[in-house]
Amino acid sequence: MVAIPQTVYRADRSYAWNYGHAPHLPRVRRIPPSPGGRLFDRDINSRLGVAAGPLLNAKWIAGYARLGYDVLTYPTVTSTFRPAYPLPNIRLVESREQAAVALRRPHAKGAPTLAVSLGLPSMEPDVWRKDVRRAKDALTTGQLLIVSVAGSLPPGGDPEALIADYARCAGWVVEAGADAIEVHLAVPDPFAEHAQMIFENVPLSAQILYRVRTSIGRPIVAKMGMFRSPRLLHETATKLAPWTSGFVLVHGVVRRVVDEDGKAAFEGAGRDLAEVVGADTFAVAARQIEEMLAWRKAGAWDRVILGVGGITAPARAIHLLHEGADVALVATAALVDPLFATRVRALEAPRPSEGGSAPLPTNGASSARARSASPRSEPRRQSRRSKRPASRRRTKHAVR
Ligand SMILES: Cc1cc2nc3c(=O)[nH]c(=O)nc-3n(C[C@H](O)[C@H](O)[C@H](O)COP(=O)(O)O)c2cc1C
Repeated sequence: MVAIPQTVYRADRSYAWNYGHAPHLPRVRRIPPSPGGRLFDRDINSRLGVAAGPLLNAKWIAGYARLGYDVLTYPTVTSTFRPAYPLPNIRLVESREQAAVALRRPHAKGAPTLAVSLGLPSMEPDVWRKDVRRAKDALTTGQLLIVSVAGSLPPGGDPEALIADYARCAGWVVEAGADAIEVHLAVPDPFAEHAQMIFENVPLSAQILYRVRTSIGRPIVAKMGMFRSPRLLHETATKLAPWTSGFVLVHGVVRRVVDEDGKAAFEGAGRDLAEVVGADTFAVAARQIEEMLAWRKAGAWDRVILGVGGITAPARAIHLLHEGADVALVATAALVDPLFATRVRALEAPRPSEGGSAPLPTNGASSARARSASPRSEPRRQSRRSKRPASRRRTKHAVR
């Protein structure tokens, strides 16, 4: 298996090993200041965060919280222990037309694209409930902890059993101190005749969100994957908006993953398909995020949109934030470049001579429709930024 260069997660070791070995992260003397933002009616130090998964537990979260990420997501937890699939779990891939192909050698340069086949591992509730509390305690003012939950279906269980299990996990997560719940809907729909994800089953998704929302007193966001068409994205968002505080997209691109000889890259039943994440997915993920932003602007619902998917260059994060995403979340970038947040912040920070924001770089991925979404949100943020005293902005992220 090809070593994935410079990742803090050791892809050649098991999930359990990585769980027990939080990385030694670089020390940063001074985190560049960020204009900050608002999420769930709270001030946040920056609009940068880490998506569910790469930060395996409280120790990982504590480390990244010191590196300028302010929206930290705890990986998906479930109501029973679930082991990870056997190795390999993460492979470096190249997206080709028919499939994602696991590479023998890493590319000399450029951000990686990964295929992830972990199997949604979770510790026992007794373990993660205590650990979520530790993660929350590790954060400071202006940082938020989101915890991702997924339901489990007992053998022969019906939709009600699945819905109730999502709500049970969400209740435990709230007791443990999470600021918000991410309801993971980009998981296989166990009731579908044809393979689909739960977010593609709108009535089931709506019931899950409704139950979670009415059983806990915290904001909830729905994690969704790649939509098959803009129409489905629009219909789904419109129908789910009443039951959620926001959306997190795009989870990843489900693809067949083979090695260079055409054999399955991950051995074992049901592992021919895996989530492809990272650099190559940005174009499609950004298009969907921008669609969502455009519908928010055009529609009757006003929910937060947390953008994720292929944000592996600082300009990509800045671009999505500029387009109106409330927060940019990274997973692959956090693993290959823990200092990613500091690089984004350096681009965002006001230049001393100008006293305002640096010009926003663009990667050319914007659409005319999405561009029209930004005027609504930008002035709102500008006015909040301007209320923040300059002295606080400059000093509060200093880490020594
Ligand atoms: C190692 C790893 C583990 C992940 N585990 C989870 C998880 O537990 N729950 C989840 O919703 N997404 C999980 N994801 C998906 C990420 O949250 C994210 O949606 C995806 O990686 C796309 O972001 P990226 O292109 O920045 O990597 C995981 C991703 C990686 C790389």
